[in-house]
Amino acid sequence: MRRKIVAGNWKMNTTVAEGVQLAKELVEGLAEVPADVNLIIAPPFTHLAPVAEIISGSAIALSAQNCADEPKGAFTGEVSAAMLAGIGCTYTILGHSERRQYYGETSEKLVKKIRLALENGLSPIFCVGEKLEERNAGRHFEVVGAQVADVLFQLSELEASKVVIAYEPVWAIGTGVTATSAQAEEIHAFIRGIIAGQFGEEFAERVSILYGGSCKPSNAKELFACPDIDGGLIGGAALKAADFLAIAKSY
Ligand code: 13P
Repeated sequence: MRRKIVAGNWKMNTTVAEGVQLAKELVEGLAEVPADVNLIIAPPFTHLAPVAEIISGSAIALSAQNCADEPKGAFTGEVSAAMLAGIGCTYTILGHSERRQYYGETSEKLVKKIRLALENGLSPIFCVGEKLEERNAGRHFEVVGAQVADVLFQLSELEASKVVIAYEPVWAIGTGVTATSAQAEEIHAFIRGIIAGQFGEEFAERVSILYGGSCKPSNAKELFACPDIDGGLIGGAALKAADFLAIAKSY
């Protein structure tokens, strides 16, 4: 059985006070969420410590949105995996398309980040996904396949077993255009297939692959019903407790 996960990526949104309030509302609404759905929230760095206090003792897990590719030292402005683990994070998102696009995140850097995350007990939520022009050119399998191979397949089987994958087509992020459940399932099945080719069928059956990109209460149920979709990485709809909880409840 694969873990069902609904994760909220808050991106660079909310003040600390707003984030704490949102976390409180999520804790209050948690009883409505099925017990087998793992809820994760990824607030900005500044919010992690106060949010950790609010969700402490609840079933909500804490994630960062990134971590440094070096363990410590003279890297002004960076936040290390050890620092994140020290304040209660158990996950970190890595390789989000916004980091790849705006901050030059490369596969080489991502391998280093994933290893540091794992060494510090954090489970990486590793993101992949093609751009609109790549999909229009029919290159989405090739692009996503290379993203998975360049990072996940550089890891040992033990390391890779702790990674959650998030497929987020760039053209669906923040656009209101969701991949159809058929489009999403097709590429999720492809990702699972190449993972099976690398690490074996049994291994691939245990990997959770999340869908992200304009996932909302109205489309989550259909997406989550697909055999190879194991939950969602939610952006905009994670900023409203009612919407995020509704997505989790629809699972
Ligand atoms: P939206 O849900 O706002 O499209 O964002 C998805 C995303 O990028 C989550 O990481």
